[in-house]
Amino acid sequence: MTAVLRRPLVAGNWKLHKNENEARALIAALRARLNDIGGVDVVVAPVFTALSTVREALTGSSIRLGAQDVYWQAQGAFTGEVSAPLLKDVGCSHVIVGHSERRQLFSETNEDVRRKAAAVLAAGMTPIVCVGESLSQRENGETKAHVLRQVGDAVSGLGPDQMARLVLAYEPIWAIGTGRNAEPADAQQVHADIRGLLKERFGAPLAGATRILYGGSVKPDNARALMAQTEVDGALVGGASLDSDSFAAIVDAARHAGTP
Ligand code: PGA
Repeated sequence: MTAVLRRPLVAGNWKLHKNENEARALIAALRARLNDIGGVDVVVAPVFTALSTVREALTGSSIRLGAQDVYWQAQGAFTGEVSAPLLKDVGCSHVIVGHSERRQLFSETNEDVRRKAAAVLAAGMTPIVCVGESLSQRENGETKAHVLRQVGDAVSGLGPDQMARLVLAYEPIWAIGTGRNAEPADAQQVHADIRGLLKERFGAPLAGATRILYGGSVKPDNARALMAQTEVDGALVGGASLDSDSFAAIVDAARHAGTP
């Protein structure tokens, strides 16, 4: 088997946490700990209202700025929404799309996720498209069918140039915020299934180059085992990204993933 080199990506999803002062303090602490992030792409995704503050706090750093959601229309009468061109304008390079909290709490559909990912790509940013099964789906043996449906719908209509810029995140819903992570071997299996679908749709080289992150209770003590899996190309981190020590430890685990 030929080893494929996919640069790991670790993204911190701050969710609805951190006001401007707290965000500034977290970035300062992270920068102090992450002076060497060579070999890993690191993204932080604060709330919309802290984006420009965090952008300023990141000046001169290789940590990238991400948003947690987006609307697919560029502008117009869409009260309360934020568009991809505006996120690009404020300095974002990445946008999380289709997080399970958006799907569950705000009724986002696979079609919404597809449109959002397409809008992010059209604006020249990288969508991090989240997929994952519920506990009952896992228990009923529906994980593969459900996750592949979500992935297939999200990437439908994309050309190879767009697909080459898209990142996927497998986040089993039962693992998010519960302290119960997927077993590394189970994550590996789902990631391999996703890559199999991408191979059918886009061919082996593109499928082999696509980064698939794992998310769901990633912590410093499990990050290395998860990212040591050959199909796991990084992490989408919620709770542990709110603390500079634990997020830095996860980034460090990504740097050393694959090293015995
Ligand atoms: P968690 O969240 O790390 O707190 O489980 C992950 C996510 O929701 O992206």
